[in-house]
Amino acid sequence: MDAQTLLDWYDANARAMPWRVPPVTDPMASSSTNRRADPYSVWLSEVMLQQTTVAAVRDYFIKFTTRWPTVTDLAAAPDEDVMAAWAGLGYYARARNLLKCAREVTARGGRFPDTEAELLTLPGIGPYTAAAIAAIAFDLPAVVLDGNVERVMARRHAVVEPLPDSKQTLRALAASHTPQVRPGDYAQAVMDLGATICTPRNPACGICPWMSECEGRLAGIATELPRKRPK
Ligand code: ADE
Repeated sequence: MDAQTLLDWYDANARAMPWRVPPVTDPMASSSTNRRADPYSVWLSEVMLQQTTVAAVRDYFIKFTTRWPTVTDLAAAPDEDVMAAWAGLGYYARARNLLKCAREVTARGGRFPDTEAELLTLPGIGPYTAAAIAAIAFDLPAVVLDGNVERVMARRHAVVEPLPDSKQTLRALAASHTPQVRPGDYAQAVMDLGATICTPRNPACGICPWMSECEGRLAGIATELPRKRPK
């Protein structure tokens, strides 16, 4: 199965990140459900990663979780402390929304909801972030679609229709790949593939776990995809 090929690759190549729980590679180990990243860490890291690179986020994530280990701790922080800690990450609306969301979760009992639909009702949580939390923290088969995943799907299926017109096609393709088994690890595997192998320029097709089924590569057009409609 397609997804399994990617999961095998992820088990051997997952990038270490402070908010990540490494994949279990021992088949005799206990089920993945009791060793997932907590929703607070996933939410915080995903908000920080919007418009900011993994390398830049790393230290900020550690700083925030050391100072405010739970969403309730963050909710109780004075606005100016959080804004000061955020300084350097940019896009300060994200920090304001972060506090709003932490206070809303705290007002609702201090636990993040465990469905995509409920996550979407929180301030600052849009479709991407809701899906990422549902998948990574709760291991639900949510369709996590960011720019990386769009690129991987466009190439994997040789989608020549340009973005943004192809968005729904790419979403449907992403959904068709999302497995019921280990969907959270799968979501992170596709994002890692897009960030490290299926890169915008000079993709490393020769070491890609999906090289033999990639229609874009087989047609010799992978590097040109996804196409973008001129504005
Ligand atoms: N980029 C944004 N979120 C990510 C994640 N959870 N894993 C890999 N890359 C990401």
